[in-house]
Amino acid sequence: MLTILIFVSAFVLVHSGSSPHGESYLRSLSSRQKNEIPRDIIEDSLLDAVGLITKYGYPVEVHEVKTDDGYILTMHRIPEGRTSKGGNRPPVYLQHGLLMSSVDWIINRPDNALAYLLADAGFDVWMGNARGNTYSRKHATLNPDKSKFWKFSWNEIGYYDLPAMIDHILAQTGRKKLHYVGHSQGTTSFFVMGSNRKEYNNKIASMHALSPVAYMGNLKSPLVRMMAPMANTIELVTSLFGVNEFLPTSDFMTLASHLLCGEGSIFVPVCTNVLFLLAGYNPDQLNTTMLPLYMSHTPAGASSRQLVHYGQEHMSKRFRQYDRGVNNFITYGSLTPPKYNPESITAPVFLHYSDNDWLADGGDVDKLFKELGNAVGKFRVPMAEWNHLDYTWGIDAKRLIYDRVINLIWAFEL
Ligand SMILES: *[C@@H]1O[C@H](CO)[C@@H](O)[C@H](O)[C@H]1NC(C)=O
Repeated sequence: MLTILIFVSAFVLVHSGSSPHGESYLRSLSSRQKNEIPRDIIEDSLLDAVGLITKYGYPVEVHEVKTDDGYILTMHRIPEGRTSKGGNRPPVYLQHGLLMSSVDWIINRPDNALAYLLADAGFDVWMGNARGNTYSRKHATLNPDKSKFWKFSWNEIGYYDLPAMIDHILAQTGRKKLHYVGHSQGTTSFFVMGSNRKEYNNKIASMHALSPVAYMGNLKSPLVRMMAPMANTIELVTSLFGVNEFLPTSDFMTLASHLLCGEGSIFVPVCTNVLFLLAGYNPDQLNTTMLPLYMSHTPAGASSRQLVHYGQEHMSKRFRQYDRGVNNFITYGSLTPPKYNPESITAPVFLHYSDNDWLADGGDVDKLFKELGNAVGKFRVPMAEWNHLDYTWGIDAKRLIYDRVINLIWAFEL
């Protein structure tokens, strides 16, 4: 009963026009807490993607891309490195995970952030932002303050957003192919595209999935597991309230953090962030000095349906389209949603997974690996505690992940 209450209250959405950002996070701290944060971390907490990239000495461009269904997305480009400039620079497209943004590829210092490392290794780096996040709350006709804007899951991100951003990069660079790196939902949406927009496979020179999420039957995240059986009720609740952005209420956050982090946990920073509550965290790989910075830029916004669709994946153990219940027949012409087809993904794919990932379980990754049309390699991160968010924020991300990804990209370029 308690859990039902929690999850209903979670989705009784408090509507607010702006996404969480540095200022409001810093405002939530006491002055003693704030005094303990180094000045440059405070400074970075208040910068957006362009501000951060500029501060660290890299060139940056902002591009707007319109999807076929009218969403206007912001891309950030780092066309050159600090040490490597000019020349023939193959494009690499980075796509963030759920509740994250382009900032997560540059939030660490240049010696441990994938976008900077790629730029200095000789690539032309493009970072996407999915519809609904901080940088992509825009539509040709729909208003993000209205629920109609939020009627999408990662299915639409894969079907519309990724193709639009890929076409934009190829048009701007005059290339026929690019390399793709996705984290979490950035992999799910890629698999949607490779399955349902098959022609895009030919535009991918190589794909690198950091924490691949397609099958979720075995996922470990306690919060997602508890929410999953109520996925469709939650959808009902949200549609009753007419607002479809995922914005957990403070009651929900208090209860979820007590449940998952224990008594008094609301004072532990990671227990106040819904991203950590969903994905877990690994104390050994989390740089606590940097934590205020991560907290300032996430959660970066998503629709409730993105979470509901993941909950459905866990329940059905299938990788398939959004379950519309009684409306499935009208939308899909069948009682159950159509499956995606990993077999038809012909782009060369590398999967990077780990044992302690709350969202991408090894067994589920293995099932995907066997079904993919052109799976080239599968790598287990050689650290037992490596978790979902360590792929973007982990202290040893360069050594354990990025160096390998960069080498693989070169191997498929030369
Ligand atoms: C943690 O972050 C701070 C601030 O960027 C940095 O000075 C320090 O070297 C980092 N620690 C580790 C272990 O990477």
